[in-house]
Amino acid sequence: MTENLAIVILAAGAGTRMKSERAKVLHRAGGKTLIELVVATASRLAPAGSIYVVVGYKADQVRETLDGRGVKFVVQRQQLGTGHAVLACRRVFEKGAKRVLLLYGDCPLISAETLQGLVDRHRASGAAATVLTAEIADPAAYGRIVRGPSGRLEAIVELKAATAEQRAIREINSGIYCFETRDLFRSLRALKPNRASGEYYLTDVIAELASHGKTVETVVAEEPCQALGINTRIELALVDSLLRIRKAEQLMLEGVTIQRPETVTLDQDVRIGPDTLLEPFVQVLGRSAIGKGCLIRSYSMISDSTVADNVVVEPFSLLHGSKVEAGARIGPYARLRAGNRIGRGAQIGNFVELKKTRLGARSKAMHLAYLGDSTIGARVNIGAGTITCNFDGVAKHPTTIQDGAFVGSNATLVAPVEVGKDAYIAAGSVITENLPPKALGIGRARQTTKPGWVKRKRVGRASARAGL
Ligand code: UD1
Ligand code: CA
Repeated sequence: MTENLAIVILAAGAGTRMKSERAKVLHRAGGKTLIELVVATASRLAPAGSIYVVVGYKADQVRETLDGRGVKFVVQRQQLGTGHAVLACRRVFEKGAKRVLLLYGDCPLISAETLQGLVDRHRASGAAATVLTAEIADPAAYGRIVRGPSGRLEAIVELKAATAEQRAIREINSGIYCFETRDLFRSLRALKPNRASGEYYLTDVIAELASHGKTVETVVAEEPCQALGINTRIELALVDSLLRIRKAEQLMLEGVTIQRPETVTLDQDVRIGPDTLLEPFVQVLGRSAIGKGCLIRSYSMISDSTVADNVVVEPFSLLHGSKVEAGARIGPYARLRAGNRIGRGAQIGNFVELKKTRLGARSKAMHLAYLGDSTIGARVNIGAGTITCNFDGVAKHPTTIQDGAFVGSNATLVAPVEVGKDAYIAAGSVITENLPPKALGIGRARQTTKPGWVKRKRVGRASARAGL
């Protein structure tokens, strides 16, 4: 942590080039909004109370996204450019920190180490401003770093204003700077709107400082990709895949096997234990944690779920907001909706849907079932096609099935209902009444057998055809 340092993150722009209803900084990369990523990095350098986020376009939504993080907000009512956005913080800084680190909310790959390096260099050199630059093959629309004969930074020139010679410069402005607060606001007050766009460019502060004999330093980013800014969805996709590859590499170094990692989608906060294997096209999202020695097979999607050790998730299974205990087997084609808890060694097979259901240790529901709002004990067998009728059209009702019970195939359990320990339900039953322990519940029409019926029917049809 650096004392006397405030951090300002610009996040008020609409992001017109995204062609979106949503503010640009609320788009997601690596499963998190851009603004969350930048705030998380900033939080590693300064306490949340010294981080100021400049909001404007869809300000309420940006605030809501950062709710509970303790950062402060400054409102830029009209978005008149990056210089104007910083100027909106003037009041806050009148008696504020000596230095300010300025970040753009659309540049989420920057690392805390790079930022710390920038701040350290700035302090050591005693410059009025220090700009983080990057050398890239295709400088595209980034501001160009224009240096004088001595190599000193003289100005940052935006693409539209650049001469052909300046356009050829490959050193670009990352949009990340460290300023002496006093120098920054003094030159901001002198800032004039850009002639072509009418916007106040923060980048013009650099030329302003340089022309007044102030020292402006630069630090060249070691990894140019850290300076990647997002203006369009093409850059969003690039940043998203870079974050996910980084995450996959981190997990592989921690002992997770990932087959075809470029096909696997892993959110930033996901945790996975060693010797777990992810097959191609797996997605692990949100706040999910997977234990050791698991096998997660292709096309499964696990979100906001906890999976303990040695669990097998067969292909095409969806797990959301659920908890799976050690040694359980799920799928293929299983669907766990929110609020389930699957016990140790339990098994859930194909086309089984669960919602708010607890399935006890070593219980099985192997085929074609719906279990909702249910509490199911240990060693229970749920036969193929079992349905808990948890909804009567008005309210939801619970089903309880005690340890060791056997539910025959195609049973319909009309909730609220309770099946006692070791009770037995005959296949095809409609169960509407509670069943005591060890009892047999059978609720279906008795079969009628009509001997010789087929033959009689055929004779009947033949006579009909003959018109008799
Ligand atoms: C800016 C820089 C450019 C640099 C590039 C790096 C300027 C004039 N140009 O260009 O030199 O190479 O970033 O990515 O600064 N914002 C506000 N209020 C506003 C306008 C913008 O808060 O009125 C915020 C946006 O939400 C965004 C950031 O500032 O997070 C940058 O704005 P953007 O319009 O994307 O600047 P660039 O054109 O990319
Ligand atoms: Ca930008």
